[in-house]
Amino acid sequence: MGLLIRNIKGLVQVEYDPIIKVCGKDMSGLNIITDAYLFMENGVIADFGEMRGLNSTDIQRFIITDEIDASGKFVFPSFCDPHTHLVYAGSRETEFTDKIRGLSYEDIAKRGGGILNSAKKLHETSENELFEVSMMRVDEIINFGTGAVEIKSGYGLNLQDELKMLKVIRRIKESSPVEVKATFLGAHAIPEEFRNNREKYIDLIINEMIPAVASEHLAEFIDVFCDRGFFTSEETERILMAGIRYGLIPKIHANELYFSGGVQTGVKYNALSVDHLERSGDDEIAVLLGSETMPTLLPGSAFFLGLPDSPARKMIDAGLPVALASDYNPGSSPSGNMKLVISLACIKLKMLPEEAINAVTINSAYAMGLSKTHGSIARGKVANVFITKKMSSYGFFPYAFGSNLIETVVLKGNIV
Ligand code: NIG
Ligand code: FE
Repeated sequence: MGLLIRNIKGLVQVEYDPIIKVCGKDMSGLNIITDAYLFMENGVIADFGEMRGLNSTDIQRFIITDEIDASGKFVFPSFCDPHTHLVYAGSRETEFTDKIRGLSYEDIAKRGGGILNSAKKLHETSENELFEVSMMRVDEIINFGTGAVEIKSGYGLNLQDELKMLKVIRRIKESSPVEVKATFLGAHAIPEEFRNNREKYIDLIINEMIPAVASEHLAEFIDVFCDRGFFTSEETERILMAGIRYGLIPKIHANELYFSGGVQTGVKYNALSVDHLERSGDDEIAVLLGSETMPTLLPGSAFFLGLPDSPARKMIDAGLPVALASDYNPGSSPSGNMKLVISLACIKLKMLPEEAINAVTINSAYAMGLSKTHGSIARGKVANVFITKKMSSYGFFPYAFGSNLIETVVLKGNIV
């Protein structure tokens, strides 16, 4: 099938010589073709350019089976969301109210709520039910413009339930047009029954969970919640080392609640990304500058929990790349809306619209190991794009933070 989109007001994030990420000052650059066409065939981007270049000779090269007139509208590459926990059971709006009344995320976790509350709900939910509720969230984020998503386990916290989550993630991958990457996050919290013997739980992760996950090829990445009240940097190191031995690539939660040493540990083990970073200073920036690790910021969870904002401006001004993700989960960010993430990045993190767009496309593709195939409009890349409603400029997209401006979604070359 060949889909031609013509008369595009602005074709955003075009690449002629594909790169795998964009850093520092370059993040404020964005290639846009005005009055453009885009042709997609067999699930990939086949051609694009200015409308005036689309003469009758060119058109004859294409076998067009579908055509869309995008006059007044913009076309973006689909968002890549490199950090979510969207497989979960139930919800946690009671804790939301507790937070409004003054409890912190850590207070709730200490009294057995938070992640442990979601683990209890997940334990009581069958694999089929979990798949169904999770697929509803996947369909929701597809409509919000996401074309690739990373999904973590971490509400199982025992071998069987962790495997149940990862099997649901695999089923999502098999049944949805969205590109899915799976992460094993057994080290998300210490379960109640191991509260006085955390060593035993860490042993379980290292000696039973990781080998089982690897033998069934259920995950590509390994994550640890390296933060106060969860896992120390020393524990994180041991868990990452075990994961690496089984071929899992680290991507970790770091410095959400305090200066945990997680950034340094992530970089030491060559993590693909270190995520959150609300508590980051000069040392964290310096260590990231000498690495290939992508700092991935989650402004939705900082907003929802009232945490300090991650120092995106300092990072970019120091020459670092930055990626953005939704962190879609029931406790700290019950939203997978990447358009809202862009707006929050602009409003709260003071990122320019161009920087935020780079951070949800090419850099977030990098943070999930996909930047060779996703994250920009380039020949041969997967045909994942969305068409906006009529807009005055691409800057209108983050500015109109409450409006749904996405009109048509195309994944793998098909209109969804
Ligand atoms: O990224 N910080 C750790 N994990 C999630 C929250 C999980 C939860 O509260 O359910 C996060 O914010
Ligand atoms: Fe998270």
